[in-house]
Amino acid sequence: MFSIMLFKLFLCITFLKLYDAADTLFPNENIGVGQTLVSQNQVFEVGFFSPGSSIFLGMWYKKTPKVVVWVANRNNPITGSASGVVLKVSEYGNLSISRGGSVIWSGNPSGVGSDPVLKLLDTGNLVVVDSTKQGYIWQSFDYPTDNWLPGIKLVDDSDGGVERYLRSWRTSEDPSPGEFVYRIENQGLPQLVVYRETKKMFRTGSWNGLHFGGLPLLPNGSVTSYSFRDERLISIARPTSSSVFSRTTLEPSGLLQRYNMNARIDTWMHVQTYPRDKCDAYGNCGAYALCSTEKPQMCQCFKGFTPKSQNDWDIQDWSGGCTRTTPLNCLNGDDGFLEVKRVKYPDMLRTWLNTSMGLEECKVECLKNCSCTACANPYITNGGSGCVMWFGDLIDIRQFPEAGDNQNIYVRLPASELAGSATNGEEEKKEGKTSGAKKLVVIFVASAVLILAVFGGGVLFIKRQRREASKSNDEDIDMKIFKLETIVAATNNFSWENMIGEGGFGPVYKGSLSAEGEIAVKRLSRTSQQGLEEFKNEVILIAKLQHRNLVRLLGCCICGEERMLIYEYLQNKSLDHFIFDQNRRKLVTWAMRFDIIMGIARGLLYLHQDSRLKIIHRDLKTSNILLDKDLNAKISDFGLARIFGEGQSIARTRRVVGTYGYMAPEYAFYGKYSVKSDVFALGVILLEIVSGRKNRGFGQSDDNHSLLGHAWFLWRENKIRELMDECLSNTFIESQVKRCIHVGLLCVQKFAEDRPVMSSVVFMLGNDEAIIPDPKEPGFFPEESSSFDTSVCQESSTITDVEAR
Ligand SMILES: *[C@@H]1O[C@H](CO)[C@@H](O)[C@H](O)[C@H]1NC(C)=O
Ligand SMILES: *[C@@H]1O[C@H](CO)[C@@H](O)[C@H](O)[C@H]1NC(C)=O
Ligand SMILES: *[C@@H]1O[C@H](CO)[C@@H](O)[C@H](O)[C@H]1NC(C)=O
Ligand SMILES: *[C@@H]1O[C@H](CO)[C@@H](O)[C@H](O)[C@H]1NC(C)=O
Repeated sequence: MFSIMLFKLFLCITFLKLYDAADTLFPNENIGVGQTLVSQNQVFEVGFFSPGSSIFLGMWYKKTPKVVVWVANRNNPITGSASGVVLKVSEYGNLSISRGGSVIWSGNPSGVGSDPVLKLLDTGNLVVVDSTKQGYIWQSFDYPTDNWLPGIKLVDDSDGGVERYLRSWRTSEDPSPGEFVYRIENQGLPQLVVYRETKKMFRTGSWNGLHFGGLPLLPNGSVTSYSFRDERLISIARPTSSSVFSRTTLEPSGLLQRYNMNARIDTWMHVQTYPRDKCDAYGNCGAYALCSTEKPQMCQCFKGFTPKSQNDWDIQDWSGGCTRTTPLNCLNGDDGFLEVKRVKYPDMLRTWLNTSMGLEECKVECLKNCSCTACANPYITNGGSGCVMWFGDLIDIRQFPEAGDNQNIYVRLPASELAGSATNGEEEKKEGKTSGAKKLVVIFVASAVLILAVFGGGVLFIKRQRREASKSNDEDIDMKIFKLETIVAATNNFSWENMIGEGGFGPVYKGSLSAEGEIAVKRLSRTSQQGLEEFKNEVILIAKLQHRNLVRLLGCCICGEERMLIYEYLQNKSLDHFIFDQNRRKLVTWAMRFDIIMGIARGLLYLHQDSRLKIIHRDLKTSNILLDKDLNAKISDFGLARIFGEGQSIARTRRVVGTYGYMAPEYAFYGKYSVKSDVFALGVILLEIVSGRKNRGFGQSDDNHSLLGHAWFLWRENKIRELMDECLSNTFIESQVKRCIHVGLLCVQKFAEDRPVMSSVVFMLGNDEAIIPDPKEPGFFPEESSSFDTSVCQESSTITDVEAR
């Protein structure tokens, strides 16, 4: 009886198998309209489709057939009747699409195959496999259309006579070749360029040894493989990965769009667009001008140059560019260079490259040739190396807002223009408040040193009137300066036992003082390059901030190289110690968690809106939320915060700090931060507190989703309660839990402008009656680091070319 059942089951499975679409086509078989090949794990599908009036053979991700990622016969559309149209593979391995014996399209293998078969792989590669050669004698990856899938190599190999690039569809309904191409260009230093016919539209910026200079550096772990020969980029590809599927599409409009497949909801998630803004548009400012979206006037002539047409410039038509005010004085040999920092290098129209020369030698060589207009280190690795010179106009240069890569260019100017300009005219001015703050610190440190010198001991109080900062605040500030000996004694000579953590800027020690009781000493590591700046920010900022949900700074300690911050000690450590710990999480009931949530929200509201300064935290995460003995939440670590004045609430930085998992997409990808990136981080924290799960490293057994992806999925299924940490099941209040998840999802929405401001967040969290709008899709990405890897455009994160962004 049992064996009969098994047998029936077996038959059943075999039957299903037979009628499943196969992944392989043998010679003498064919595929007609309406039939498909499906890869083994049901990932990709190949078949005929008809977007308009013509018929094409194409490939699509099986779950999203509307997004066609490859087309075979885009140059040979099939018009007329679909009947009798078939795809075949011959006994020699030749592919053909024919109707009634007349061939419409063919794909010819490299060499004659033996027992060849056509097979669709799960990577999206359609291949002709030769049984003897153990390889592919034909593959669709060699014939990219408008989609760059992992595994497809873009190639520019003039020696081998091979060039592979993307070409857009003509329209969204017509796969035939459109106007735009995206390809490797090896003139001067390599770069990738989008062309409309012969006109350049966008370039990634030249290869600088680490990445393409006009695109952000990607975090470690993202991988792209590059192959170079004699400073030429021969090919570039991202590896195929079974877990994250992505594509970069060159749209009929000429935009490059990067998408990741969210396999859980079978949706392509938009990740990035290039060009990003007007400064990415090729030659937006014409010749000899810098483009910067931060400046009120987007285009600025280099120092020593003026607009070719002041009228055009006045009406913001920048395309005419700039021209020299004073001619070069080449023959007298007294020209010099203006340093312009942090730029996307000009296009490589006429350049000369020598990889072994250094910058100084490069400048000397440039001055020897009257048509040399600028020079620079082409490579930023090892503090900069090599020599590249430009001849003729400098075009398509953008300036990045903050220190990052040393892509500095030296623009040739006559001595008369350089005289008396010790400072770089092109440099951004540091915003007023920050430099005011710096001055303050200098005064402050100087007076501290003086007083220490006079009194020499113990703890001193310095009462200091605010000077220039008094535009925002007239209060006095009490700052304590601790002597190094005091701190050494308090921390038992910074003993290992007293170390309670290791932050981004150095270790944190617990200490004990007779007057203050327990303290936490953050000892800034001397090796940290940014240490001093972060320290200054932190001292100034925190001294100004007083709120029950912020950690209090008691003072600081400066002794030569040593710089330390002295905080109140919070005995319950940080939030992550509790909510992510198998045992301690059980101690934190719903009521406590809700109080913590409200506390964090109020603390952040204070930072964003209520304190007289507007402060963006920039690194909000559970390990930066400390808990006092009553489990009151206190936000710590303002080392990364900046002071913002009116109208300066958005700044961009290339030096992206912050922690993955809490980073808003616009911050992770573009270094663009605002209060809304803090709101994003808060949203992640809310969901983490409710669920007891980390966003980063979420790893549901059967998928690759982040916590945000999972929450969004549950939201759409109307099952958000399931997100809740099960150890809350005895203490939770359903309406509050749901509200927190709901507000959390609002905070993590993909687009910053959709996210609520903190006052609304606090209101919505705290009021049962509040009407809460439905969230849109969150800005999440799969957990893999490769998902940060924005586009094929860019890429390496680190240096290694193994594969990367
Ligand atoms: C098949 O492909 C080979 C190799 O490219 C080519 O030489 C041959 O002409 C093709 N045969 C047909 C029938 O197209
Ligand atoms: C990134 O990788 C480089 C080279 O492997 C390494 O030196 C560096 O420390 C890494 N950075 C981070 C933040 O992991
Ligand atoms: C590059 O510069 C080095 C050092 O000046 C020189 O020896 C070498 O010949 C140069 N290479 C080329 C190709 O000009
Ligand atoms: C200056 O450089 C250009 C471009 O490389 C070259 O054609 C020209 O011969 C050079 N002139 C001199 C005097 O070296």
